Amino acid sequence: MPRNPAQPLLLTPGPVSVSRTTREAMMVDRPAGDVEFQEDLAFARRYLVSLIGGGESYTAIPLPGSATYANEGVIASLVPPGGKVLLHSNGVYGDRLVEICAHLQVAHSVVRTPPFTPPSAALFEQAIRADPGITHVMLVHCETSTGVLNPLEEVADLCRTHSKGLLVDAVASYGAIPLDAKRLGFQAITLSSNKCMQGVPGVGWAVVQKQALENAKGQCRSLALDLWDHNQHMERTGGFRFTPPTHVVAAFAQACREHAAEGGVEARLARYSRNWKRLIDGMRQMGFVAVVPDNFASPIVATFREPNHPDFSFQALFQGMKRRGFVIFPGRLALANTFRIGCMGDVTEEDIGEALQALSDTMAEMGVTQFGRDEAVLA
Ligand SMILES: Cc1ncc(COP(=O)(O)O)c(C=O)c1O
Repeated sequence: MPRNPAQPLLLTPGPVSVSRTTREAMMVDRPAGDVEFQEDLAFARRYLVSLIGGGESYTAIPLPGSATYANEGVIASLVPPGGKVLLHSNGVYGDRLVEICAHLQVAHSVVRTPPFTPPSAALFEQAIRADPGITHVMLVHCETSTGVLNPLEEVADLCRTHSKGLLVDAVASYGAIPLDAKRLGFQAITLSSNKCMQGVPGVGWAVVQKQALENAKGQCRSLALDLWDHNQHMERTGGFRFTPPTHVVAAFAQACREHAAEGGVEARLARYSRNWKRLIDGMRQMGFVAVVPDNFASPIVATFREPNHPDFSFQALFQGMKRRGFVIFPGRLALANTFRIGCMGDVTEEDIGEALQALSDTMAEMGVTQFGRDEAVLA
């Protein structure tokens, strides 16, 4: 049955499509002090901590806004005056961390590596050894601008060995890739209400080690992003310090219930992996080249090279897909003509099958059926 283009399926790296029941959870207007609202909030906070096995050592803090707010809140709150962060970038979201530190005037140094492969842990070790002033390391776990999964466990080991505070941007992996707080020992980890948790966008979350948060008391460079302050207010009153995003929290609690009902992180990873495999296989059959080698790719999003054909245009592909009820995304990296297709959200393998058919039909409409099967993978 053809899809309704007015209600497209988002095959994008965010916002992602959410279930009808998650959307419906927003149909009630609630005041800030509402009991159900506070129960939903408490449940969601506990659920997020449980996903990383954080026990009593971690607290989950929601910040109204997008995931960048959570990353900025973590850096502004946890890196002390005189501290210095070692950052890594192999894409847009690593670069965003650099931008945050520059705006906050937090001292930082950057290890930059090519976009389509993960960095070696040795680069981090060299950088840590070279600069004793480094107090923290911040890593983007899944770099959504390509889909590359960066080496979190190795970097966590280095942080432990060299006594550095680890901060993790898990915005595109939390909820779908196992993250063990005890094993990784991070001070803070961030996520979005949307992405792999499949809530609606509107809240960035920081899950923070309580001890690190206590050490951060009074040192935040921002009022609205002060994690210590938000946490103490929430613990004391059960609600937000400022106007609460009530609808987003209601949807998020429903999304958490659905995450648990699906089978938690393991089941979500299995579904996204099936989506990704179907997508990659189907795209390769058509002649597309995935730019990230399979062994470095996450099942969150895949990046493809645009066909080298005079009649191909990403705009025509985008519009043709949209008319057929699917939304795909342009590439984010300036150095290559790429586009991305997401595998996360309320999306099944069958949906991906339909999207592949829509893509094949759109390509035929464009007159682009024969193209560069042998194009090399970009380095
Ligand atoms: C890994 C990663 N970090 C940070 C962000 C920034 O999140 P937002 O655009 O929600 O502020 C994104 C967004 O896609 C992301 O994928």
